[in-house]
Amino acid sequence: CQEKTVDPYVEEEESSLITVGFSQPGAESAWRVALTDSVKENFTEERGYKLIYKDGRSKQDNQIKDIRTFIQQGVDYIIISPIVETGWDTVLSEAKEAGIPVIICDRNVTVSNESLYTAFVGSDFKAEGDYAITNLEILLAENGKADEPVNIVHIQGTLGSSAQLGRTKALEDAIETHDNWNIVYQDCGEFTKAKGREIMSNALKEVGAGNIDVVYCENDEEAFGAIAAMNEAGVRYGAEGGIKVVSFDAMNSALTMCMAGQISIEVECNPLQGPYIYNLINHLEKEKVVPKITYIHEECFTSDMLDVDFIASRKF
Ligand code: AHR
Repeated sequence: CQEKTVDPYVEEEESSLITVGFSQPGAESAWRVALTDSVKENFTEERGYKLIYKDGRSKQDNQIKDIRTFIQQGVDYIIISPIVETGWDTVLSEAKEAGIPVIICDRNVTVSNESLYTAFVGSDFKAEGDYAITNLEILLAENGKADEPVNIVHIQGTLGSSAQLGRTKALEDAIETHDNWNIVYQDCGEFTKAKGREIMSNALKEVGAGNIDVVYCENDEEAFGAIAAMNEAGVRYGAEGGIKVVSFDAMNSALTMCMAGQISIEVECNPLQGPYIYNLINHLEKEKVVPKITYIHEECFTSDMLDVDFIASRKF
């Protein structure tokens, strides 16, 4: 076997790959795993990129540390999916001082100066919430409940995240304009199935299934948990006159439940953001101007719009 000899006087060729640091808040949902995969699939060595991925394990402090590590490593670009909207000014200023362009994806940030990041790609969460509300109004009218009291259990996502803020705002606005809508139970489900299950179980005990018309879950994991709690308690939900489930994400597993009438309204939140971010960075590499904000196209589904082939054709 031949040994590889290294001449210490010849400098190793520098990697020509463009390095990109990607900071995710955690892996709380299948949706987030789909976003991670979408980014990883787009930033490959074959395409000239080296992606460094960090998982913040559900803590903003960890994300901030991860971003500082990227800055020390001298990456060419930083992609951040921020766990919450606020608290990023300092670390983004550090990235700016280091001359590293930052792309915010999925959820947005609220900063003192918009020049602290280069571009945002992601969802318009208030629009998602408004879709859910419009479809809930239609559903209640179809069920002859337009003018009757509507009691809602509200399972929120991670407090302070733009996904929670937008979806909650849409519901709060609707409560203001519908005198007969009431939130009878509200708690934070952290976008997880376990918390969704716990909260719905508590709501059923404290409020009683007979006093609940709708459960507004701020993502599919929470909806899966709420449905598990209703199954355990033997409570009717869905199309046959039971509690109506509203959910966000429209992952394939949730769309299948929507098609079966178990989830009444599914608002899409599109995790396939990798191609959008890839195009942005490619444009920046060519010194082209990029849009500050790109909202991804998203839809709202009810059971009558769904069939097996359509669900199978979707990538998440
Ligand atoms: O920010 C997007 C939200 O975060 C998705 O609705 C949810 O599933 C994820 O955890």
